[in-house]
Amino acid sequence: MSRELSLAEVFQLGYYWETKILLTAVKLDVFSAIGERPKAVEDIAGRIPADESTLALFLNALVAMKLLTKESDLYGNSSTASKYLVRHSVQYVGHLLLLHDAEWNNWGQLEETIRTGRRVVDRHVFETDPELGSNVLTVLNRIGRQSGPDFARRLKLTGSERLLDLGGGAGTNAIAFCQVYAELHATVFDLPVTLKLTEKMVKEAGLQSRITLVSGDFNRDQLGGPYEVVLMSDILHYQTFQMNQDLVKKAFVSLAPGGRLIMKDRFLDETGTGPAWTTAFTIHILVNTQHGSCYTCRDAMHWMTTSGFDSIVELEKTAVVQGLKSREA
Ligand SMILES: C[S@@+](CC[C@H](N)C(=O)[O-])C[C@H]1O[C@@H](n2cnc3c(N)ncnc32)[C@H](O)[C@@H]1O
Repeated sequence: MSRELSLAEVFQLGYYWETKILLTAVKLDVFSAIGERPKAVEDIAGRIPADESTLALFLNALVAMKLLTKESDLYGNSSTASKYLVRHSVQYVGHLLLLHDAEWNNWGQLEETIRTGRRVVDRHVFETDPELGSNVLTVLNRIGRQSGPDFARRLKLTGSERLLDLGGGAGTNAIAFCQVYAELHATVFDLPVTLKLTEKMVKEAGLQSRITLVSGDFNRDQLGGPYEVVLMSDILHYQTFQMNQDLVKKAFVSLAPGGRLIMKDRFLDETGTGPAWTTAFTIHILVNTQHGSCYTCRDAMHWMTTSGFDSIVELEKTAVVQGLKSREA
């Protein structure tokens, strides 16, 4: 049985000052302004630009948060900040934090959303700021590259299939799958604006001959085929229940007999109260998307059953659901 929260933990949950300090520091690009050598506040203020005395208070807080160092009135980056928060670092993750900052005002309208049940945004920030969207996908691609090959192996493909990666983004999964299965051919289907990045990533991986890019809107366009595997990874939570139902029907049509549909997403458990991260992610989707939602594996199984799939299983708890198209279909 889980223990009761202490009062200190309740306060901690309600405490966001440091969050906003970090997000603002990334927005102001404080860490790049400091760069490799420690600098005086006047120098940093000139580079940002910012008000000197206000900036000093801000930098002191960042020192206390262990993101900066301060010696003899010179501010330097901690090694973590140098690695992840200085723009020209190859491991820069600031784009993800910039996304959180861009969504800050939407979170401010959470009360209204709960009271009225109405969404406060009519377009996702990726649509209003495609450059930010592409930068975020670049970071997610770098992170996803570490787990992609293991995911591909766990699915135990025969290796020579044609795979459709629907809403495949930067091509993270398609690239990982092709690297694990030497005979596999993949098609990444995504919006034209995203495919510019995918093209770059596929080229960098040297997989142009095995990964085809198809530009389109999966809610409107045909998906081509036949494919032996269709993958839907992290796309369902941006859509309504009915949009997903229609998309799964389309995927069924595009699969060859004996083929399989694999859904990888952030599914809620049947109580709706776990996994804990996903319950908070559900609220994030509620305030930051026009009609997205987190679904349960049972919802995913329902879309598959009503589309004609057989042998439907939850391969990985609240994460991966698979259905087969029978050889007779
Ligand atoms: C969160 S990303 C997931 C990327 C990738 N599947 C992964 O797991 O890393 C969602 C992707 O779906 C794409 N997408 C969203 N709506 C789409 C649509 N209607 N048609 C095609 N692609 C779409 C976006 O461009 C984006 O690349």
